[in-house]
Amino acid sequence: MNIFVLTGAGVSAESGLGTFRDKDGSGIWARFDPMKLATPEAFAKNPEDVHAFYNARRQNLIKAAPNAAHEALARLEAELTTRGGALTLVTQNIDDLHERAGSKSVIHMHGELLKARCALCDDVTAWRGDLGRSTECLACRRAGQMRPHVVWFGEMPLAMDEIAESIARADLFVAIGTSGAVYPAAGFVAAARRSGVATCEINLEPSDNAEWFDAARYGRASVEVPAWVEEVLAKVDARRAAPSA
Ligand code: APR
Repeated sequence: MNIFVLTGAGVSAESGLGTFRDKDGSGIWARFDPMKLATPEAFAKNPEDVHAFYNARRQNLIKAAPNAAHEALARLEAELTTRGGALTLVTQNIDDLHERAGSKSVIHMHGELLKARCALCDDVTAWRGDLGRSTECLACRRAGQMRPHVVWFGEMPLAMDEIAESIARADLFVAIGTSGAVYPAAGFVAAARRSGVATCEINLEPSDNAEWFDAARYGRASVEVPAWVEEVLAKVDARRAAPSA
C-alpha cells in the first residue's frame, strides 16, 4: 500500500510550536503580520525584523520535542516498508520534529528552519544559531544575504513535481493538522481525487476544504494519528493474510 501524508502546523502544536490560524485568534499570524515578516519584500525592506522573528522561532524549535503523532508516522513509514508498501511524507512545517521522531524520508515543501540559504550564491547549509545582516555565507564568503531556508509568501514551494507524482500513484491521501487555507498544499486533496485516490483528513476541527475528503477523524493529532496508524497496519495485514478474498 502506498500512502501519501501531508502534515501541517497542527501536528507540531502539542510539541509547543504555534499554529498560524487558530479559530480563537491566538495563531502566529494573529500576533505577527506575515506581510511584514514572511515575504521576500519584507526581507529586502526590514531584514532585522525578519531575522529576529525566525531567530526566536529557531531557538524555540531547538527546545521542542516530537510528540506521539510524529512518532506514529515514523512507525508507519518503517512498518509499511516491511510490508512491501511505502509512505510519502510531505510537510508544510519548517521544523525537524518528523526527523527527530525517526522519519527517514521527509519532503519539506516550505523549507527548513534549521537551514540557512545565501540569496547571492544559493548555498544551503545547516544552521542552529542566529542569522543577521553581518552573517557571512560559508560558501561565497559574502555577508548580508543569508536568510532562513524557508519558502515565504509569494515564493514557489519545493519539490512540487515529486509531490505531484507521489500523489498520483498513492492508494490513500491523508492530510494531518492543516487548515487547508494555503495553496498549493490545500489543492493536493483535489489532485488526489482526480487520480481516484481515497482521501482522509485528521484534524482538531473540519478544515477549510473538509468537503473534499471521503473520511475524517477529528481530535488531537497525538491521539488520533497513533490510533489511525494502528488501524491502517491492521487493514494492510488483513489484506495480506487473505489476498484471494
Ligand atoms: N491536533 C490536530 N490538529 C490541530 C491541533 C492538534 N493538537 N492543533 C491545531 N490543529 C489544527 C487546527 O485546527 C488547524 O486547522 O491544525 C490546523 C493548523 O492550521 P494552520 O495554522 O493554518 O497551519 P497550516 O495549515 O500548516 O498552514 C499552512 O501557512 O502560514 C503558512 O507556511 C505556513 O506552512 C504554513 C502554511
